[in-house]
Amino acid sequence: MLDVDKIKNDFPMFKNHPELVYLDNGATTFKPSCVIEMIKKYYESSSVNVERGDYLLSHEVSSAYEKARNTVAKFINARKDEEIVFTSGATDSLNMVAYGLIDKLNKDDVILLTYAEHASNILCWFDVAKRKGCKIDYIDLEPNGRMRLDTLIDKLNFYGNKTKVVSIAHISNVLGYKQDIKEIAKIVHQYGALLVVDGAQSVPHIKTDVQMLDIDFLAFSGHKMCGPTGIGILYGKYDLLDQLHPMRYGGGANSRFDINGNIILQITPHKFEAGTPNIAGALGLAAAIDYLNDIGMDNIEAYEQELKAYMIEKLSKLENIHIYNADTTSGIVAFNAIDVFAQDAGSYLSTKNICVRSGNHCAKILHNLIKTDQTCRASLYFYNTKADIDKFVAECANLNIENCINIFF
Ligand code: ALA
Repeated sequence: MLDVDKIKNDFPMFKNHPELVYLDNGATTFKPSCVIEMIKKYYESSSVNVERGDYLLSHEVSSAYEKARNTVAKFINARKDEEIVFTSGATDSLNMVAYGLIDKLNKDDVILLTYAEHASNILCWFDVAKRKGCKIDYIDLEPNGRMRLDTLIDKLNFYGNKTKVVSIAHISNVLGYKQDIKEIAKIVHQYGALLVVDGAQSVPHIKTDVQMLDIDFLAFSGHKMCGPTGIGILYGKYDLLDQLHPMRYGGGANSRFDINGNIILQITPHKFEAGTPNIAGALGLAAAIDYLNDIGMDNIEAYEQELKAYMIEKLSKLENIHIYNADTTSGIVAFNAIDVFAQDAGSYLSTKNICVRSGNHCAKILHNLIKTDQTCRASLYFYNTKADIDKFVAECANLNIENCINIFF
């Protein structure tokens, strides 16, 4: 059982906004003091560059930066630190995989996605497919977002060895369904394709073991797991990662180059980290991971499931609320109030100090599955409480056209 009152004290946002019911953790999370202190410490006491200076402070910061890489590697059980690339976030990581594979994709190759993917896991594939003449196709989902493995197998049989990539979210950002990645990886690998996983909504909430799940590439963001914005991770199995074409060139990523345009790159992962990296971000992310590890990822997952069940139990009693994903186990609840435009509902809840996200949540083709392109989304984290949920549900009961219009007058 988590001591949430104690946990809340770790987050200055709760001290500064004691009235706030924050249920937009799918968008970003609050940061504990240890993360803020780590960033402050870097800028106040060791604000030098990494891997470039021949003086003590630079060596010290370089070694802290590499230690942060090790912390991330251990957190997701990577085989070695060199499988971890610091990026600016999950979007950056997914783009790095898509554009990194561009030389390996050929005309008529197939990339399989789902309708539930976030724009970050669709648009880079659209662009790469357009440039290379590849085909994009979609694996069917059940209404709650669960991938239909029979469709996956049918598609793989249909396209044969033309399918080169299957790229899907472990937990989708609107429906919150947790896919059976281990089983999916087994199938995808039988057909010789690569499995790319968008872990933006999963890594912060559940223990993720890339070896056990047999993931080829995994993308996630620091800011959705108590870390700073502007830092993220691309994990890749070393040999696959090493074969990606770097998307960016510059200092730190090359060993040497000459006037004829010959370039010798640094070894992986450094060849992917051109330019001064987000050093404070990497150190802050490592502090966030230490913090999450202290609480325990299993405890976090169990507590969020308890909160989610509580929210569903209370919310489903309201006749004016339609829930789209009552049976999924992650801490994401997608809903609408009958006859109320989702963004009006979000604005109404905001007047009651309740933060949810509303709209299409960047999942702009999901309406092909759930038949609406506007929902409200309440997304939980381990610092939420049943009292938060009670307040939220009490205000959801008041979501009707009249109340939502009145906030504008
Ligand atoms: N990707 C984030 C979300 O789903 C911003 O809200």
